[in-house]
Amino acid sequence: MVLDCDPGHDDAMALLLAVADPGVELLGVTTVAGNQTVEKCTVNARRVLSLAGVSDVPVARGADRPLVRPLRIADDVHGETGLDGPLFDGDPEVPEAATTAAELMVDVLAKRHEPVTIVATGALTNIATLLADRPDLHANIEQIVWMGGSTERGNVTPYAEANCFVDPEAADQVLRSGVPFTMCGLNVTHQALVTDDVLAAFAGIGTPLARICVEWMTFFASTYRRLWGFTAPPLHDPVAVARVIDPAIVRCVDANVVIETAGEWTAGATVVDLHQYTGRPATARVAVELDTTAYWTKLVDAIARID
Ligand code: RIB
Ligand code: CA
Repeated sequence: MVLDCDPGHDDAMALLLAVADPGVELLGVTTVAGNQTVEKCTVNARRVLSLAGVSDVPVARGADRPLVRPLRIADDVHGETGLDGPLFDGDPEVPEAATTAAELMVDVLAKRHEPVTIVATGALTNIATLLADRPDLHANIEQIVWMGGSTERGNVTPYAEANCFVDPEAADQVLRSGVPFTMCGLNVTHQALVTDDVLAAFAGIGTPLARICVEWMTFFASTYRRLWGFTAPPLHDPVAVARVIDPAIVRCVDANVVIETAGEWTAGATVVDLHQYTGRPATARVAVELDTTAYWTKLVDAIARID
């Protein structure tokens, strides 16, 4: 798996799941502007891998802005650093790769003898660029699994989810590419609520890393309470990783999905035809149900596996 992300508190937890679950071979981490600037997201990705003691997975910086729109960051949700909460001294040990995100993805896809899964937990800018630049590599991608969109309403506008809203043109291009695509949207990630019991399970691990995870999720809880009135915050991004680890954790259905890029009030909306109103063919697998017990067990086990 290659994980393309914009850490981000929930991206950080997705990274840790990908690092520690025995079912995942993490081949590279690429970053994209979204929750914060790509500079900050890249430092955060390096920070997470450093905290996990992972030094053999390259971290490469990707797009610093969406394909055509100005960047809109989510510092109201993730803070000034993009990963506010616990304070860290100095630069993370894990370095930034000398290659760009595009070069790293091309390298991984070209060299592997078997197709690679790309999990994306931010805007799809890097992936759209890759697919446009290298059509010869489409067949080397097993699937793209994205945390983004929604079968219902949005979280930054009434109809747009944040990762889609940041770069709707990129999401549109990726969906039109024909590469197998799974969308894990808000309708399913809002089932992944960090309740007090979940937080207690992480706290019970007792390692320094688990304590940091608890601090991250506590910060995330505070912004979700303030901005949206949630009593427990949804931990979105690990849902996409969990879908790859064990598809049974995230039940999906096939549906036609198109992206609204032109709507005056609805740009970034994912228009999901769950009921075949349009007669258009399915363009994606769409997540509809989360096995929350299995999900939290996977995540807690993963964090506990890291010393
Ligand atoms: O809407 C949720 C998504 O937006 C998550 O990926 C979160 O990290 C933010 O990027
Ligand atoms: Ca994210």
